Amino acid sequence: MKNMLIAMGLMASVCIQADNGKQIYKDASAPVRDRVEDLLGRMTLEEKVGQMNQFVGIEHIRANSAVMTEEELRNNTANAFYPGVTEADVERWTEEGLIGSFLHVLTIEEANYLQSLAMKSRLQIPIIFGIDAIHGNAHAPDNTVYPTNINLACSFDTELAYRIARQTAKEMRAMNMHWTFNPNVEVARDPRWGRVGETFGEDPYLVTLLGVESVKGYQGDLNSPEDVLACIKHFVGGSQPINGTNGSPTDLSERTIREVFFPPFEAGVKAGAMSLMTAHNELNGIPCHSNEWLMQEVLREEWKFPGFVVSDWMDIEHIHDLHATAENIKEAFYQSIMAGMDMHMHGVHWNEMVVELVREGRIPEARIDESVRRILDIKFRMGLFEQPFADPEQSMKIRLSAEHRATALEAARNGIVLLKNDGILPLDAAKYKNVLVTGINADDANIMGDWTAPQKEENVITILKGLRQVAPGTYFTFVDQGWDPRNMDPAKVAEAAEKAKDADLNIVVAGEYMMRFRWEDRTDGEDTDRSDIDLVGLQNELIERVAASGKPTILVLVSGRPLGVEWAADNLPAIVEAWAPGMYGGQAVAEILYGEVNPSAKLAVTIPRSVGQIQMIYNHKPSQYFHPYAAGKLSTPLWPFGYGLSYTTYQYDDLTLSSKEIAKDGTVDVSVRVTNTGSRDGVEIVQLYLRDVYSSVTRPVKELKDFARVPLKAGESKVVNFTITPDKLAFYDQKMNRIVEPGDFIVMVGASSADEDLIKETFTVK
Ligand code: BGC
Repeated sequence: MKNMLIAMGLMASVCIQADNGKQIYKDASAPVRDRVEDLLGRMTLEEKVGQMNQFVGIEHIRANSAVMTEEELRNNTANAFYPGVTEADVERWTEEGLIGSFLHVLTIEEANYLQSLAMKSRLQIPIIFGIDAIHGNAHAPDNTVYPTNINLACSFDTELAYRIARQTAKEMRAMNMHWTFNPNVEVARDPRWGRVGETFGEDPYLVTLLGVESVKGYQGDLNSPEDVLACIKHFVGGSQPINGTNGSPTDLSERTIREVFFPPFEAGVKAGAMSLMTAHNELNGIPCHSNEWLMQEVLREEWKFPGFVVSDWMDIEHIHDLHATAENIKEAFYQSIMAGMDMHMHGVHWNEMVVELVREGRIPEARIDESVRRILDIKFRMGLFEQPFADPEQSMKIRLSAEHRATALEAARNGIVLLKNDGILPLDAAKYKNVLVTGINADDANIMGDWTAPQKEENVITILKGLRQVAPGTYFTFVDQGWDPRNMDPAKVAEAAEKAKDADLNIVVAGEYMMRFRWEDRTDGEDTDRSDIDLVGLQNELIERVAASGKPTILVLVSGRPLGVEWAADNLPAIVEAWAPGMYGGQAVAEILYGEVNPSAKLAVTIPRSVGQIQMIYNHKPSQYFHPYAAGKLSTPLWPFGYGLSYTTYQYDDLTLSSKEIAKDGTVDVSVRVTNTGSRDGVEIVQLYLRDVYSSVTRPVKELKDFARVPLKAGESKVVNFTITPDKLAFYDQKMNRIVEPGDFIVMVGASSADEDLIKETFTVK
């Protein structure tokens, strides 16, 4: 098979060369624009519309057509098959040049095979393969699994975001994958929503920076065989769904959309992202997939987006069968295309119905040409015509390389947040010789998080494995609670409670279940939203009963969403939020518990105490807590945005502004001295927030405007510098013009968004 594919690859390139003289589009030295126009001129309408269509791979169809019903297809967004369509049909359409893209192809063999079919088509237009490489190309087996995005966000490490994206791109191309459906640059404002773990958290500025670095890392100049196309998604608003469930309506003011949700997308476009995915949800009454304001007016006209827009899973169909703003699917296709859609994920009916719409004169062929141009432009720029295949011999030399594995470990170390420590951590291995380890996430590959396929056992260090590796002299007793929080065995909980009495220390590893190969059984992840943010099943009981042993009990959480573990916060001596720390997450957790690594991460999301506090974000408006809740939970979060502990301590002083008065277009240099006052080296994430004191429209009580990761040796002091530029002071006025208003601004610098962690100075804009 391998040799056959390589031979086919060679044949394809030979025949491309032979035709060079006549066909401009096959001439790699011709300008891309000329190649696009030449090819477009040769295409039939059917071929053009086919370029705008994306199918799931044939292995995927094979696996799911056996087990799913038609009804399930409509509701299930992870699996798919096409009723009435066989693999043979999909293969034939590929050979006929009627499919422009595939997704959910999980092996290089299948990708090369499908590409070989495309190379048999009349014009030999290569397939572009898309995949959800959200934290590494983890959705396919045998790739490096980095921590999930929320973990990465807690490291506040933009260079790391770039590096992970770069390495992911290399691993993807080594499998003949060209396009990742990432970064997800939604601003997460509801922890009930199961996709928080896929995002970079709740702060527009942090999300923007990490999104931009990811785009740059994936794409490079989009011209080398190590670059992949990035896709910023989901446009827009789905991260603040009305009831917290994925794809439910969003109703947001234009002010909130522009202040909170647009900035990461606009910056992504400016950074060169060449594809964008629209969101499942309707926005203020109009489905995003037929939303001309979003796709045309904002994206293309305001932001000058030159790339192409892809729909999300079945979402053009949902304009008809869910949102009910189109009477049938054909009308839905019409609305979506006329609003600006370029590519259809995924499936049947598109080709024939869109061709009909053009023949009927409803969609001008010129409109189709626009989309096809954008798609072909990417395929040419990425060199897919010259290099449609990947070499299976080289593939595993690139994937899971030592360098990539080391980055996965580094990222886990940097993203795990120490939430509470009364001094018990780092653990003293000499003192705690017998340690009980229990909980659903103690010894499970679930630490890799959503968007991860099962990976080989030897490539995953679970938390139990990590503990045994890091503390070889300690005796760890493991009481297995299974992986499934909903079906925990009370007898196992009782067994752990008993054994806890004999241990010197207990470690409970609790949290959510996120692995998508058990789609129906998860408690967190895509389409897995919750009506509370408590631990599921018997997990609270497990924690409380183990702690009742009287032996010190520490809690490690593995989750994508913030969890309101208030009892544990009040009663346990130490809590660590590991998020989904990736394939080496267990090692990193153990290194942090035993002090080999000094934790430095800070929360990229607020952790509320309970679901009733939602919406709970640090950058709320001034009146939000004017009347605190009369009874029940406090109005304060369990842990605020930007918060995270270390094994050393830091002191902030000498906050100095270069000027106390500036013009509207002026800048202020800010400097602050940060000192490591403890006895361990560490990295402090220094945060700068601003508040506009009086403004013509209400403004948040504070907004993150800059940060720095500052390594500090024990006892060391450094002066950290920031510059406040006019764009950091600007906002949308009553007429929605972006302006800087005269008046006072408070600069706050410190270790978290909580007032008690910030020192302050004021300056005035004249
Ligand atoms: C998700 C997208 C994803 C797509 C393809 C959808 O269900 O919403 O984020 O890219 O599936 O897997």
